Amino acid sequence: MSAKGAGTVYIVGAGPGAHDLITLRGLAVLRTADIVFYDALINPRILEEARPGAEQVFVGKRCGHHHTEEQQICGMLVEKAREGKTVVRLKGGDPMIYGRGGEEALACAEARVPFEIVPGICSALGAASYAGIPLTHRGTASSVAFVTAHSAGSADSPDTSWQRLAKAVDTLVIFMGGAWVDAIAASLVRAGLAPDTPVAVVSHATAGDQQTLLGSLATIAARVADAGLPNPMLIVVGEVARLSETLNWFERGSCALLPAAAVASSAGVRGGRHG
Ligand SMILES: C[S@@+](CC[C@H](N)C(=O)[O-])C[C@H]1O[C@@H](n2cnc3c(N)ncnc32)[C@H](O)[C@@H]1O
Repeated sequence: MSAKGAGTVYIVGAGPGAHDLITLRGLAVLRTADIVFYDALINPRILEEARPGAEQVFVGKRCGHHHTEEQQICGMLVEKAREGKTVVRLKGGDPMIYGRGGEEALACAEARVPFEIVPGICSALGAASYAGIPLTHRGTASSVAFVTAHSAGSADSPDTSWQRLAKAVDTLVIFMGGAWVDAIAASLVRAGLAPDTPVAVVSHATAGDQQTLLGSLATIAARVADAGLPNPMLIVVGEVARLSETLNWFERGSCALLPAAAVASSAGVRGGRHG
């Protein structure tokens, strides 16, 4: 049984950046909320959809929360629901991918506060569509892994997990790696990937200022540094990254089509491990 008279906590994915990439369900619960707790990567235009008079509380910090801060957020969600309020916890992308959605839902479950989790479009999927990088592609990539780069910043042997991933998966999508592009690329080469393995780095995916840089494991770190590419960014490693040259409709403007010869050469992208 839930706490008597408790409101519901809705843990909602706001999508990757563009204001119109939130789901209908997410928008509907946002419009009924008494209080909205939101993260740093939420497009302000989405917050404008909240009910006039709804309280809006910023609880964000880029790249996740410190443990105690996260506990405080969980405490606030439970407390407000126990006051009978409809609570929306609005998160960038999807709550269940590096979003701490699990921890916050567990806090509600333990406190016997009703909760619902509303999926959002993960930034990896937003970047895939808006930068034109199919994460799986017949004949090129049949598997994809989402990976956190957090360990890349520490000296504690990140190489073992890179080795496992490099051998097992065709496409890697690396989150929270903006500060460590060089270290990640070097680890993947040490793990056995060829230095000319294609890489795309997508910054501010789906937002008006989205930027995609293409290179290889050998060149990408210098390109990102030279361009001063801003966070948040995702690093996509694998043959499919090449397809962005042809399929990046968003940054090019969908009407600006490439010459037929360029399209034909991308259509020939093959040669992943399962090629
Ligand atoms: C704490 S994780 C949150 C991930 C989120 N729950 C999701 O589903 O996308 C933050 C990381 O996600 C990635 N990210 C989030 N939004 C992004 C965007 N619009 N463009 C590129 N990367 C993004 C970046 O790697 C960033 O460091």
